[in-house]
Amino acid sequence: MESKKQLEYIDKCSRIVRDRAGFLGRPLTFYVETFGCQMNERDSEKLRGILEKAGFEKNDSEESDLVLYNTCTVRENANTRVYGRLGKLKDLKKRNPEMIIGLCGCMMQEAHVVEKITMSYRFVDMIFGTHNVYMLAELLYNVLTERKMTVDIRREATEIVEDLPMDRTYSFKSGVNIMFGCDNFCSYCIVPYVRGRERSRKPEEILKEIRSLAGDGVKEVMLLGQNVNSYGKKEEGGVTFAQLLREVCRVEGIERIRFMTSHPKDLSDELIRAIAEEPKVCNHLHLPLQSGSSRILKAMNRRYDKEKYLELVSKIKSACPDLSLTTDIIVGFPGETEEDFQETLDVVRKCGFDSAFTFIYSRRSGTPAAEMEQLDESVVKERFDRLLALVQSTASERCGRFAGRIQNVLVESVNRQDGSLVTGRTENNLVVHFPGGEELIGQIVPVRMEECKGFYYYGIKAE
Ligand code: SAH
Ligand code: SF4
Ligand code: F3S
Repeated sequence: MESKKQLEYIDKCSRIVRDRAGFLGRPLTFYVETFGCQMNERDSEKLRGILEKAGFEKNDSEESDLVLYNTCTVRENANTRVYGRLGKLKDLKKRNPEMIIGLCGCMMQEAHVVEKITMSYRFVDMIFGTHNVYMLAELLYNVLTERKMTVDIRREATEIVEDLPMDRTYSFKSGVNIMFGCDNFCSYCIVPYVRGRERSRKPEEILKEIRSLAGDGVKEVMLLGQNVNSYGKKEEGGVTFAQLLREVCRVEGIERIRFMTSHPKDLSDELIRAIAEEPKVCNHLHLPLQSGSSRILKAMNRRYDKEKYLELVSKIKSACPDLSLTTDIIVGFPGETEEDFQETLDVVRKCGFDSAFTFIYSRRSGTPAAEMEQLDESVVKERFDRLLALVQSTASERCGRFAGRIQNVLVESVNRQDGSLVTGRTENNLVVHFPGGEELIGQIVPVRMEECKGFYYYGIKAE
């Protein structure tokens, strides 16, 4: 129903766009920029799909007739970047007064942000949030016909709208949402406030989408959710994530399956078995640690402790010896002491992460942690540097273990610095450069891992 209505709006927009392009004697162009995580990347594919269907032509610069920023607010610096970029857009709009500027995504779900933009950034034409991405054409129609600022933010999603157009970034790999939102309320995190309550898509919808992707030549899918391990738990007759994963493995044409993100509190033995047994499931698990201190984990509301995390890791490593384990770590959560931080370093040493994203804690207003006493910046920075040094040395050591081995590499692009090389990823998510041409893009090629460069490899095609 809703998708039919939106397809009608796309059609209405396309008529206006066609007339305008005819008048100008050139196509109208658009530019979508994505900040933040894979969820946003996937939403942007939907946004671009709608704009293309509405008759706009994709452009790679902000000098376009329509510019849309799909924003992130997980850390303060994500916000700062958007405000900085808006200043630049204002100048561009002076030169092209017909230009349409839109803002959407997670930042827009925060009332204080929308207030600031509607007050001080009057040149923005369109503001919407994470729950109504599918409404882009409807909002755009409003802007095109009334030429006034259109703001539409929903507190919650009413339904999951399927079957709208999509412009995929890669022809050979794709993200697939399996669930939206988050119910975990980790005390530092803004995501549950801006993405709403957890909702799982129906297994049959997910499988239908993946089959259709496979039909289009997609070889690798990444199943997306803030906590994929709780997939289906709220649904009746719930299919578990491990069951869903096994179903996805049965889809012909799909050769690799990844997923993000696994919350340690819900990582089941059933899932570990599926990873170990199913050859299509990649040898890579991203398992955010956040902190190694049980005391801080409790204050973070993560619902596992240091021992539980270590136990999980040893279980996974014994079930899948060749697996790459990656993680996220936050430094400087309110109340973190040097002792707590030492616990984090201890877990990093014990787990031997193949890579770790390290973040300085960022205070997000509205979250419980924002009300706690914050740490001194210089202390946090110094801890962060120590953590980074440890993480990097562990990661490069782990990376070295593949030297001389043959790994299957999904080729993603021609190397930007050296056109005689192509670049791809192994199942373990390691980047490899090796001699080859454009025709290899999208193919899975066996490559001998010749030279480890710390975090990536140079290789040679094996055969
Ligand atoms: N749902 C995922 C994480 C999504 S956010 C999970 O639970 O693992 C991605 C990462 O950003 C988190 O893992 C966390 O390490 C980091 N992050 C979230 N909020 C943050 C904050 N306020 N300050 C610093 N890092 C934060
Ligand atoms: Fe944020 Fe925690 Fe939800 Fe991840 S699980 S999105 S860190 S609240
Ligand atoms: Fe950012 Fe929203 Fe993702 S806040 S990290 S884009 S869910």
